[in-house]
Amino acid sequence: MINRKKLHKYAGRYLLVAFLAAGFMAPAHAEQPKPVSSKLTPRLKQLLSEEMQMIKQAMKQILDGLIVGDHPLVATNAEQIYSSYILARELTPKDKADLMKAPPEFLQLDGEFHEIAKKLAQAGKQKDYELQRFYYGRLVDSCQGCHSRYVTDKFPAFSGAQPGGHTH
Ligand code: HEC
Repeated sequence: MINRKKLHKYAGRYLLVAFLAAGFMAPAHAEQPKPVSSKLTPRLKQLLSEEMQMIKQAMKQILDGLIVGDHPLVATNAEQIYSSYILARELTPKDKADLMKAPPEFLQLDGEFHEIAKKLAQAGKQKDYELQRFYYGRLVDSCQGCHSRYVTDKFPAFSGAQPGGHTH
């Protein structure tokens, strides 16, 4: 027979699982967040915009490198994306305080994005072209993931579109 104490333990475990599952699935049902630009100062928007232009160029270079197996080209450009991390850059204390007004999920996405770039740079150094392709794909996921949630003012084509939601 299961005693009361044990039952509690099981119930607790199931609750935790349900809780984790709900948290994991939440983004799919969550409301569309507001564009992050409304939460950023003009100066931060400017810095971010410059960073994004650089990232876009670097992504093109990386694709060129992937196609022909130019590992150093992949590594250097991925490294450049990684080191552009705006949080790690020389921001004034006021900039940092301003940036913290952005939603935590946005900052987390930015952190993850730069981590992937770091892994891509490592794959470049290791001359592992399959891994490079994998992380390049993850980077593209990350561009779309952030833009479709937080940059729908600049990229309205994402509004109302479903990730992977083909209707045939
Ligand atoms: C964590 C969120 C985030 C990720 C990840 C992200 N972006 Fe962005 N991106 C933004 C925001 C916010 C803006 C709007 C900045 C502004 O206000 O101009 C933006 C704007 C841009 C722009 C337009 C810049 C301009 O001002 O003309 C380009 C191009 C761009 N992103 C490229 C990329 C590419 C390529 C990737 C992936 C390799 C990427 N971004 C990943 C948040 C992100």
